[in-house]
Amino acid sequence: MNADIPVVTIDGPSGAGKGVISQRLSSILRFHLLDSGALYRVTGVVARRQKIPFDAEQPLAELAKRLDIEFIPTGDPEEPMSVLLSGEDITRDIRTDAAGVDASKVARLPLVRLGLRQLQRSFRRAPGLVADGRDMGTVVFTTARVKIFLTASPEERAKRRYKQLKDKDIDVSLLALLDSIRERDERDMNREVAPLKPAADAVIVDSTGIGIDAVLDKVLSEVKKRGIKGG
Ligand code: DC
Repeated sequence: MNADIPVVTIDGPSGAGKGVISQRLSSILRFHLLDSGALYRVTGVVARRQKIPFDAEQPLAELAKRLDIEFIPTGDPEEPMSVLLSGEDITRDIRTDAAGVDASKVARLPLVRLGLRQLQRSFRRAPGLVADGRDMGTVVFTTARVKIFLTASPEERAKRRYKQLKDKDIDVSLLALLDSIRERDERDMNREVAPLKPAADAVIVDSTGIGIDAVLDKVLSEVKKRGIKGG
């Protein structure tokens, strides 16, 4: 039964390191990986392309329900998945900071969230799933066996994001990134539906000043504690 398939949820604010931790954990466990933020990012990109206003809830929800998205593993740890929208590779378009801001605007809308829920749950397939997002543990996979809430200070998250974008030759200023991280935190934490917050049964991991390997060890020890062995 689907409910027996183990899920590890990794929720937290932008830039806390969820992406790299989720990707490494899924590869160690040989589990599927869901980057739920990418689904909101694609919704935002399509909305902008089709000139649908960001407050037009019903049309945006219809769009979200009809998205034809495929994730293709690349083998590149920097960008582990290509994201295809109806066959078109839109990975670069969704990774800009502006696309992140647009994503957080569509993510405020309850019907858009509902429209994407089924698609997100369809990623729960054997041998297991690592789900990266904001409400994976609180809304989408409430029965997940392990729930991690990964966080870090806004300054540290802005610095990490700056480096990530620079490495991809995407031009951006550190101060502008810090502003946009704060703006996005504010919107994600204060929205009425599925606000960003730890699930009651989540383990909180603060990665400020801690390297990726140490964070991964901590997460792996939580996974092992709950008897998850991997595929
Ligand atoms: O993780 P990310 O930066 O790719 O997410 C982009 C935006 O999507 C983020 O501002 C909040 C939103 N989001 C969400 O509301 N719920 C999720 N499960 C994942 C992302």
